[in-house]
Amino acid sequence: MQRDYQPDLNGSDEIYGQEELIERAKGADALLVTVTDIINRDVIARLPGSIRMIATFSVGYDQIDAAAALERKIAVSNTPGVLTNATADIAILLLLGAARGAGNGEHAIRQNTWQNWAPTGFLGRDVTGKRLGILGMGRIGQALAKRARGFDMEIHYHNRRRLPAQEEAGAHYHDNLKSLLPNCDFLSVHAASTPQTRGIINSETLQELPPGAIFVNTARGDLVNDDALITALQSGHVGAAGLDVFNNEPDLDPRYRTLPNTFLLPHLGSATLETRNAMGFCALDNLDAFFAGKPPPNPVTP
Ligand code: DGY
Repeated sequence: MQRDYQPDLNGSDEIYGQEELIERAKGADALLVTVTDIINRDVIARLPGSIRMIATFSVGYDQIDAAAALERKIAVSNTPGVLTNATADIAILLLLGAARGAGNGEHAIRQNTWQNWAPTGFLGRDVTGKRLGILGMGRIGQALAKRARGFDMEIHYHNRRRLPAQEEAGAHYHDNLKSLLPNCDFLSVHAASTPQTRGIINSETLQELPPGAIFVNTARGDLVNDDALITALQSGHVGAAGLDVFNNEPDLDPRYRTLPNTFLLPHLGSATLETRNAMGFCALDNLDAFFAGKPPPNPVTP
């Protein structure tokens, strides 16, 4: 970026407020933003006329009002594909961490409260051979299914469209969420945050899970109604949750921290050196194409 552009870099990773972002956009041709920059309709309306493109350093783009951008003829791009494996790896980590109570075990070691090995100490639940439900069978959902097959898990999924047999690889398709949920010893969500999916994990949907099911979220916090999930975790109807994303990050609902059956990570699904480099170069490829007068490889459309 330093070589090919004259960037105004945010060297400290501090989150700019909307006013500062708009101010810094003055005279710029493009914005390279990320999940913490809320580019809503109001911000887009107030961006200077010089801005012709917004490239987000993320696969998710729910923080950008793409329709408002289109109306102002501002192109938008994202970074799909390059973070698929890293995110699917974290889904497996959450699945195992939640099922095996890894957070509690690690906490006991760090706090020096581990007394001794005991037959009923730190009891978790098996993963091997269980049923895994995947809500949203895009790239990351499929990469999770591939990993889960290594644990002999039976894969069930719900997606807007059924995958071709080769990609489905024996997974059971459910054409609606209600049919998927009773088949989930584990449920992992991999849907984008849209008006249709926000709050899709709520008291009604959680009620359809088998008692003790384990819930995993690497997608977006706002897919979940926190009150409903916390109530289900408190009652044990949801046996455990592995969460990498939250509503109102980083000020997540504090009850998650005190529940013994949660395994929590700070939105680090894509956080490997290799993946974050690939995301950066992907964002640059989109900018380069756009300013060379070609279609960006990863356009976002409303
Ligand atoms: C994304 O890219 O949308 C992730 O949430 C952050 O890497």
